Amino acid sequence: MLRNVPNLFLADAASNLWLPSQSSSVAAEVDGVFSFIFWISMMFFVGIVGALLYFVVRYRRRPGVEAQRTVHHSLWLEITWSVVPFLLLIVIFFVGFTTFVTMAAEPEGAYEIRVVAKSWVWSFQYPNGYIDDVLHVPIDQPVKLVMSSDDVMHSLFIPAFRVKRDIIPGRYTSLWFEATEAGTYDLFCTEYCGTKHSDMITTVVVHPSGEFQTWLDKASNFLETMSPAEGGKVLVKRRGCAQCHSVDGSKMVGPSFLKLYGQSASLDTGDTITVDDNYIRESILEPQAKARAGYRKVMPTYQGQLKDEEINAIIEYIKTLK
Ligand code: CUA
Repeated sequence: MLRNVPNLFLADAASNLWLPSQSSSVAAEVDGVFSFIFWISMMFFVGIVGALLYFVVRYRRRPGVEAQRTVHHSLWLEITWSVVPFLLLIVIFFVGFTTFVTMAAEPEGAYEIRVVAKSWVWSFQYPNGYIDDVLHVPIDQPVKLVMSSDDVMHSLFIPAFRVKRDIIPGRYTSLWFEATEAGTYDLFCTEYCGTKHSDMITTVVVHPSGEFQTWLDKASNFLETMSPAEGGKVLVKRRGCAQCHSVDGSKMVGPSFLKLYGQSASLDTGDTITVDDNYIRESILEPQAKARAGYRKVMPTYQGQLKDEEINAIIEYIKTLK
């Protein structure tokens, strides 16, 4: 399922070995804070470990040399090693806090995209109602993600933008960024959310100036340009059905779509039903109403998230899988 094979640092192919590309307005500032803290830590690490090794060798126990009592304390030394780190911590707090404020305060008039995370798929909903499993954004414009979860905790992370935020069931969280480079970047879930957490991975497409709206208009009308069965195939992939339902007969979290239509299936109540249009429709909208025997009841509802024409398209697609 991996679209991009992540490199050593789980970042974009365009990145170097050290950090991913800086493709948002806050990236350089975040990296600045990181480098600042990193090099201070490095300085102390080298200084302390270096002094330690030096003393170990210089004052090692040698035959014929009496061990000395520990020297009395040195006020100046103690003041120095207290005050210097104190001042450094104040500076670290200041640079960290100012960057945090920049990242937390979203600018007025940001373009709003709703994000719904569910195990194990992302849906991004645009202001016109269109939903995609890839995040598309315009370049050089602040974008605000309003995020919620259908089930457990997830976390949205875009390394190239240096933004990350948890998505918590029962409340909205948000984050904003402004992409500064057109291209395709990785988007990860960084909260362990179950068996296929590591498959909960998609991409962000940053559209060059003026091309975002054209893309959105075209993408929103995809059902009109395809046959229902073709449209259904797109929806099954895009809306996350394929994460749990195979089309080749193999058993995944849910039943396979292969030869599903028209078969008779046993429910966990012991009843037997025939899989027809009504059963598929009900199972999409109320997955737990008539659950199949032998499967865990984990499917989230698509009530309010799939339009009738989209459900029709999915049924038409399932019919073709004979
Ligand atoms: Cu969703 Cu990990």
